[in-house]
Amino acid sequence: MRLAVVGGGSTYTPELAEGFARLRDTLPVDELVLVDPDRERLALVGGLARRIFARRGHPGRITLTGDLDAGVEGADAVLLQLRVGGQAARQEDERWPLECGCVGQETTGAGGLAKALRTVPVVLDIAERVRRRSPHAWIVDFTNPVSIVTRALLTAGHRAVGLCNVAIGLQRRFAALLGTDPAAVSLDHVGLNHLTWVRGVRVAPSGGPGPGGGEGQDLLPKLLAEHGETLADAVGLPHALLARLGAVPSYYLRYYYRHDAVVREQREKPSRAAEVAGIERELLELYADPALDHKPELLSRRGGAYYSEAAVALTAALLGPAVPRRAAPGAVTGGGTDRSGADGTPAPARVQVVNTFNEGTLPFLPDDAVIEVPAQVGPGGARPLPVRPLEPLYTGLIAQVAAYERLALDAALRGGRDRVFTALLGHPLIGQTDRAERLTDALIAHNRDHLAWA
Ligand code: G6P
Ligand code: MN
Repeated sequence: MRLAVVGGGSTYTPELAEGFARLRDTLPVDELVLVDPDRERLALVGGLARRIFARRGHPGRITLTGDLDAGVEGADAVLLQLRVGGQAARQEDERWPLECGCVGQETTGAGGLAKALRTVPVVLDIAERVRRRSPHAWIVDFTNPVSIVTRALLTAGHRAVGLCNVAIGLQRRFAALLGTDPAAVSLDHVGLNHLTWVRGVRVAPSGGPGPGGGEGQDLLPKLLAEHGETLADAVGLPHALLARLGAVPSYYLRYYYRHDAVVREQREKPSRAAEVAGIERELLELYADPALDHKPELLSRRGGAYYSEAAVALTAALLGPAVPRRAAPGAVTGGGTDRSGADGTPAPARVQVVNTFNEGTLPFLPDDAVIEVPAQVGPGGARPLPVRPLEPLYTGLIAQVAAYERLALDAALRGGRDRVFTALLGHPLIGQTDRAERLTDALIAHNRDHLAWA
């Protein structure tokens, strides 16, 4: 099996290398190709990735290249983890919206739109090249903003699934509180990427979960009663809110439910981008040490913790037959046998929280909105499981952000000041015309180098 990682020079790559090495029975990788235009970084990160494979006795080869076409040639799956403009562009996304009283965040609000505009054309170009070189490859997109990027990929007909580590992070947290194995925990997790709520937590009875997961009693009320404060702290929201909702919103809901408070906090302190740039500098120094052969502890200070487990489980499910029937460690739920493989042969399937087309799952959204829910994943792709009806508090916000994402994609694909303005006006955190005008000017001014039409 040949896998390519575009953005392979990312400081996250050692996390992936550890994941591939540890889970090699789930996903037998013969060759891992790290593709990155930054040769220096690629050499540093690739060197460490090789030492990690060697330490763990992984027989697979790790190859390094700056040539995208050669890198993706013959790949079974291509992971996208790139950041157009690097942390420097992110730093801007986190600053200029604050001047207009809006949250400064890399995926939420105006900063998220800027990132989408920079990223969508680049990712679509990469995906076209993947399609030419490896028409059957699956694209696993971790590149943010995942919802909009995945929607762009799926709309253009690519074999793609969007991935985020928020669900797997919460799954691990609940498992720790319950004193159980994360693989046994299934979540009723619903919404859009970075706009999700967990409404139920179930533990599979011993013997493994059934095909749909979700067996057993809902333990969330008990978890909220006993660990409500801990969970509220983890997502940066008041305990009273979690208790009232009877649900655990993701950390990103903080930017909605506490928007003005977050803006005040952000104005007082260095941006997350600046913090991450510092962590990355230190990480790269560590990676340069030829004696280092494991992922350093410092990497856990990045938000993408456990990303590799989600990526390995997802890639294994998409690539299918080599995978054992039991749940992969880290799959959000597991088990079952799916007969939906393209060739009709029995193929392993897993339930995993992913980003894919709605196709009627949330009846109040268009079919081509991209949602983040548990889905049955197999060689035929990802099929969302049915979702319990949602109350208006959730449907209202989800529908508005999904509509914004559609406008954002339109602006990313076709460009133009008017489309940027319309997307910003349609965002629930912006919504006012004066503010949207100012943000439009700022977004264009700060991103001119990345926008072909500006
Ligand atoms: C979480 C999100 C990712 C995001 C990351 C940011 O993992 O799910 O989508 O990229 O946080 O982490 P950072 O360390 O860059 O702030
Ligand atoms: Mn994410």
